[in-house]
Amino acid sequence: MTDRPHGIITVASGKGGSGKTTSALAIAGALKKLGVAPDAVMDLDYGASLTRSYGYTPSEGFSEALLDGRIGFADALHDTNEGIPLIPASATLAAVEKGRMHAWRDRLRELGREKLIVIDTSDDVLSAPVAAAILAADVLAIPTPLTQKAYARAYPEIAGLLAGQKHNPEQVWFGTMVDQRPALTRQLLREIAEDGVELSVLIPRGIAADEADYAAGSVVMASPKSKVSTAYVELATMIYARLRRLTGAAPGIDAGRPTRPLPVAVNG
Ligand SMILES: Nc1ncnc2c1ncn2[C@@H]1O[C@H](COP(=O)(O)OP(=O)(O)O)[C@@H](O)[C@H]1O
Ligand SMILES: [Mg+2]
Repeated sequence: MTDRPHGIITVASGKGGSGKTTSALAIAGALKKLGVAPDAVMDLDYGASLTRSYGYTPSEGFSEALLDGRIGFADALHDTNEGIPLIPASATLAAVEKGRMHAWRDRLRELGREKLIVIDTSDDVLSAPVAAAILAADVLAIPTPLTQKAYARAYPEIAGLLAGQKHNPEQVWFGTMVDQRPALTRQLLREIAEDGVELSVLIPRGIAADEADYAAGSVVMASPKSKVSTAYVELATMIYARLRRLTGAAPGIDAGRPTRPLPVAVNG
C-alpha cells in the first residue's frame, strides 16, 4: 500500500455507445489536470476503441499480457499525446475464457494497491476481461445516456455480477450526451431517482466530444473550455474524492469543495 493516489477506476455499462470510451479518456485527462495523473489507462475492450483513440493501431494485447503475468507493468505502457501511459488492447481479448476471470480480478486488485488505473471496457459485461475489471474496481463509473432504453440496459448485468460479492465497488453514475429536452430529461431523471440512483454529474451532448477523436486524446485536452470538459473535470473530482475515502490515498487535489448543482432539476 502506498500513500500515492492509487486504485482502480473502471468505466462500465451494459449499453453500447453509452460514452464509456469517451468517459474513460476524459476522466483520465481530467485527473491529470487536477494533479493526480493516472499511472495508466488500460483498454479491456476487444474492440480496442480506446487504443485507437490514443492513435494506436491495435496489434498486440498488452493488457492481456500484463494480466496473464507474461509482462510487467512498465513493459505494458505506451506513450500518448496526453502524457498518460496507455496499456493497449487487441481483438484477442474477445477469446479470453471465463476461467481466467478470477486471476485477472486478483491481478488488477494487486496493481490497484500501488497504481492509479482507469479502465475502459466493452459492453459485454459478463465476458471475463470486463467482469474482472468490474469486480476489481474501487470505483465503478457508470455512464448513462438519458434515454429510457439506455438507462434500462445500463445496469442489470452489472447488478447480477455484483450480487452476493463480498467486495462491492463504490458506484458513480453520471448522465452522458444529455441534450436540451428538459421535459423528457426531467421525466427520466425523476424515474431514475425513484430507483434510488443518483446521477452525480450530467455530461452535456456537445461536438467537443466528437472533435476529441481527431486530437488522439481526451475531450479535456482537445477542448478544455467546453461544457463537456468542465463537466468531466467535475466528475473526476467526485470520483477521486470517493477513491480517497476508500483507499486513504494522498490528497493531491481539493476534492472537498462543494459540487455545482445539477443543471436540470429533478423535481421541477
Ligand atoms: N457528451 C457527448 N456529446 C456528443 N457525443 C458524444 C458525447 N460522448 C460521447 N459521444 C459520442 O458518442 C459515440 C459513442 O461514445 P463512446 O464513448 O465510443 O461509447 P462506448 O465506448 O460506450 O461505446 C462516439 O461517437 C462519441 O464521440
Ligand atoms: Mg467504447
